[in-house]
Amino acid sequence: MKTTKKDSTNASRRIFIKKSALAGLGLSVMPGISFGAPAANEKARIALIGVGGRGSNHLRNLMNRDDVIIPAICDIDPAAIKRTKELVSKSGFKQPEYYSDNDHVYLKLLEREDIDGVVISTPWLWHTRMAVDTMKAGKYAGVEVSAATTLEECWDLVNAYEETGAHTMILENVCYRRDVMAVLNMVRQDVFGELIHARCGYRHDLRHVKFNPGVTFGKDASGEARWRTQHSMHRNADLYPTHGVGPIATMMDINRGNRFESLTSHSTKSRGLNDYIKNHPEGGVEHENAKIEWELGDVVTTQINTARGETILVTHDTNLPRPYSLNFEVQGVKGIADFDKHTRRIYIEGISRSHKWDNMENWLDKYDHPLWKKYGEYAAGSGHGGMDFFVIQAFVESVKRKISPPLDVYDAAAWSAITPLSEQSLAEGNAAQYFPDFTRGRWIKRKPIFAIGDEY
Ligand SMILES: NC(=O)c1ccc[n+]([C@@H]2O[C@H](COP(=O)([O-])OP(=O)(O)OC[C@H]3O[C@@H](n4cnc5c(N)ncnc54)[C@H](O)[C@@H]3O)[C@@H](O)[C@H]2O)c1
Repeated sequence: MKTTKKDSTNASRRIFIKKSALAGLGLSVMPGISFGAPAANEKARIALIGVGGRGSNHLRNLMNRDDVIIPAICDIDPAAIKRTKELVSKSGFKQPEYYSDNDHVYLKLLEREDIDGVVISTPWLWHTRMAVDTMKAGKYAGVEVSAATTLEECWDLVNAYEETGAHTMILENVCYRRDVMAVLNMVRQDVFGELIHARCGYRHDLRHVKFNPGVTFGKDASGEARWRTQHSMHRNADLYPTHGVGPIATMMDINRGNRFESLTSHSTKSRGLNDYIKNHPEGGVEHENAKIEWELGDVVTTQINTARGETILVTHDTNLPRPYSLNFEVQGVKGIADFDKHTRRIYIEGISRSHKWDNMENWLDKYDHPLWKKYGEYAAGSGHGGMDFFVIQAFVESVKRKISPPLDVYDAAAWSAITPLSEQSLAEGNAAQYFPDFTRGRWIKRKPIFAIGDEY
């Protein structure tokens, strides 16, 4: 087969990952952090359930590695299976066994004994049951965001982990974004002093995702419009909290010395989706979808209180025209950073000119996280600016070393709980809701393990 430039880049990335993984075996972990013994298996045997948009990306990143075997893949959509077979052929990886007969055929895949971990990238309502079944089969679950949609599901995840000892990692890639990790590094090196407040959110115009093609959603639609849109029809809540909250939770040591205690939520009226349908060339005021009354308010804001006395303002905003933003701000007693794709500014007392923002680029370079310094070149091109490499790297390394993943089942539960709790708050006229303590008190003693050091 002819080798293209892209192929040779992938090949060198594979070689690099293999070498660094082996080198990693000789490295010890950071003092005071008990990660367990390093790799017993040199290769992790990873299966995938769901190979639509997101799962295909995970598959590509898994196939870029020399320390992964992919024995099986499950998806109920024949078109997804066909695309996947072509993708695997092009990569030169051995074709896995495919499972596609029905909604529950993933259970057959889980019976296999040649699988160590499973990456789950299915619609939200499947996440918890697939992760629970994976843990019950004694395998690591890597579950896409959000991990759960109700409080009961959050507990199901925690209980399955505690009963089986098998781990779940929430695959929150934004925790690995380069600027986010540099700010995490700054927090840990006390640049902002004691943290007081943070802001984050998911502010993403998803109208073309919720309707695709035209103003279609449901069984005749494509991609996420087949399943995501119904959540906007039936639920008023922060439907997608983890891209914003995950990174802030790692900075505030949530479940590891701190925890989410309570929240209140506010919602605007719902106009964006209706307006989109009415004004779309394939829609119009007479279109049947223009008659739908959407539950989801266009902008839902949630204020979280933490046990250490910080607040976090989280916004969910997916129905209106706007540029993409996760809207990050981190504020402590010494200063503040306001950063995202388009805005990067910082103010640190005694360093910045009084009352003037500084450009943040130099700070981001100076505090670039060791993981990015080590793997940044190889991560580029893995998806979402490189962060998708790191989230898969962390999952694979956890599986190989048989250790707790850096974003664990308690994180999955606490972050995902924002959806049902915000929904309840809105239903009760913005009343305060209290987070269950999913760690059952262990948050007091648990120590941070996310992105300590430069291995994963
Ligand atoms: N972290 C990120 O940056 C990011 C980006 C996109 C999507 N996501 C998340 O990833 C998940 C998947 O999103 P997507 O965009 O890939 O959606 P998608 O609709 O493109 O893919 C979902 C796939 O799951 C398959 N599926 C559905 N039910 C199944 C079942 N019972 N058994 C096996 N397969 C089944 C579908 O056929 C489809 O191929 C969602 O939770 C989404 O929120 C995360």
